[in-house]
Amino acid sequence: MKIGSKLWAGRFTSEMDNLMLDFTHSTETDSRLIPYDIWGSQVHALMLSRQNIINSTDLSPILIWLEKALSDFHEGRFVLDPTKEDVHMNVESYVIEGAGVEFGGKLHTARSRNDQVLTDTRLYSREQILIICSNLVVLCKAFIGIATKHTTTVMPGYTHTQHAQPISLGFWATAYISMFLRDFKRLFSAFETTNTNPLGAGALSGTNLPIDRTFTTELLGFQSTHQHALDVISSRDFIAETLSALAILMTNLSRFSEEIVYWTTYEFGLIQLDDSFASGSSIMPQKKNADVAELTRGRFSQVLGALVDLLSNLKSLPLGYNRDLQEDKPPLWRSFDTVIACLKILPKMSQTLTFNTDRMAQLCQANFSTATELANYLVQEKGIPFRQCHDIVGNVVGQLVKSNQTFDNLDRTARLLAEMSIEISISDLASILAPREALLRNKSSGGTSPKEVKAMIEEFEHQLENIEAGIRSRTEQIELAYERTQKMVKSTIQNPPV
Ligand code: ARG
Repeated sequence: MKIGSKLWAGRFTSEMDNLMLDFTHSTETDSRLIPYDIWGSQVHALMLSRQNIINSTDLSPILIWLEKALSDFHEGRFVLDPTKEDVHMNVESYVIEGAGVEFGGKLHTARSRNDQVLTDTRLYSREQILIICSNLVVLCKAFIGIATKHTTTVMPGYTHTQHAQPISLGFWATAYISMFLRDFKRLFSAFETTNTNPLGAGALSGTNLPIDRTFTTELLGFQSTHQHALDVISSRDFIAETLSALAILMTNLSRFSEEIVYWTTYEFGLIQLDDSFASGSSIMPQKKNADVAELTRGRFSQVLGALVDLLSNLKSLPLGYNRDLQEDKPPLWRSFDTVIACLKILPKMSQTLTFNTDRMAQLCQANFSTATELANYLVQEKGIPFRQCHDIVGNVVGQLVKSNQTFDNLDRTARLLAEMSIEISISDLASILAPREALLRNKSSGGTSPKEVKAMIEEFEHQLENIEAGIRSRTEQIELAYERTQKMVKSTIQNPPV
């Protein structure tokens, strides 16, 4: 019996219309799934033979042609044919054409494209999540570098984008690490949700053939077998979870980018970009723009769009496979690519920033950033209720502003305080109002003092080591499973049954 180019066309009497073909095939998107589809097929075939669902003599031609498909893929010769619809039918057809239908035709026993597509996507996604985690570690280390150098570098801390209180540049940098540590949690959680084995769920209900799902779970390096067949076939929440982790991560990268954009403005002047990570204007010769930061900020929208795309796709779907689900992959792929591209460039851009520390110090001095420290001094040393201290210092600031002066005019500041019966010597006042000293006097845990920032750096470095170990062990589990599969494939091919 002849099998047509469409593997499912037995009941059909006419060819698919070309418009229908163009509209429905997913081969461009699916290309990156080829090695995963082949791995899944190898494991499935090994399982079928172990369970005596196919004969041991059927197994080696199937494995030989899967292996050929993989080497063709690595050499750029295995290109997906759109008339075969998707990666699954391309790989299966390759095996059937090579091994003959009497062997190759047995590969799809007890399997559906519905559990296959989920197997491939989960295998691919879990690796992408780990790649993203590794790149995020590199970015965190760039921030550790900045923080370590600048535990005593003062800069104005902002609220409402207005000068608030002096902080150290190291404190600012560690805030991002603290933030990214939560991104790791979300990414690892998405990894765990992704890392369950759908293979064996069949089209939706399982199968009456005696398959062994535990075997395929182990050989594909999945953490567990996804128990419920209908649930796993319908499941795309692992993608939603991944995309939401990525969207939140992109929000964080975008917030950092926003700071880069305005800190590099003439008005702020807090940092300078290295020429290698800036661009110019085609008409205005003086321009130097923070395009990396702007594009990162701009690309957040893609990832948020991907999440919205996926969730709106899912929200009205009945259980079971629906073709709508094919649309899950392009936004996921795009998001992986975008996030990885941002994470690859941001550490390099960050490491080459020049911080204008003089300007930072000057700004701290220029606009009453130590007003709260003065109020706190009055609380501690004069026993005045804070609300009144706030009022007293507010009064002093108001008077100074009126005459275009700042705390720099210590005599005037002391006189204004004295008018409210508060005597502070000029030297004490100088020390209270000095931003750098304010930093050193900060006491609270988690605050901006150099001591706290150093402790946080140490703690975060420790957490990053654990994260790196977590990435390594997950990667190893995947690699070991892959190697085990390939060993079994090789030994079957080399010692075919007689
Ligand atoms: N290309 C499909 C997808 O990505 C594969 C599953 C097809 N299943 C089906 N019953 N048509 O979702």
